[in-house]
Amino acid sequence: MKYSDLVKEAMKAKELAYVPYSHFQVGAAVLTKAGKVYRGCNIENASYGATNCAERTALYKAVSEGDRDFEAIAIVSSSNDFTPPCGICRQVLAELMPNGIIILANDKGETREYSLDDLLPVRFEL
Ligand code: THU
Repeated sequence: MKYSDLVKEAMKAKELAYVPYSHFQVGAAVLTKAGKVYRGCNIENASYGATNCAERTALYKAVSEGDRDFEAIAIVSSSNDFTPPCGICRQVLAELMPNGIIILANDKGETREYSLDDLLPVRFEL
């Protein structure tokens, strides 16, 4: 799949964001090496710490369906700008797709690609 199509999947995911508190929609789409796509949105909670980010929703959906071999993840949001993953999501990316490509897209459809070494160069591992 083309990465521009993966970004489109993330944009679709964003529309389902449950964001009554921040009103900030995030969408993610993770691509497996076998070509399957899992979409995820952020899901907020009145107890704010229970909120789940879009990236983790997508990744946890995939893992819970038996997929763990990831090629890339695309991330978009309702802001005009690029939305880099939060620190917790970077740690989850380190766990589940340390060699994957992280694609950020803004509302103009421009993209930037990162490795995890770019985003979390010195990281905790067991
Ligand atoms: N959010 C994500 O979904 N992914 C990130 O990496 C950054 C933050 C969500 C969490 C919350 O619902 C909203 O954006 C504002 O923080």
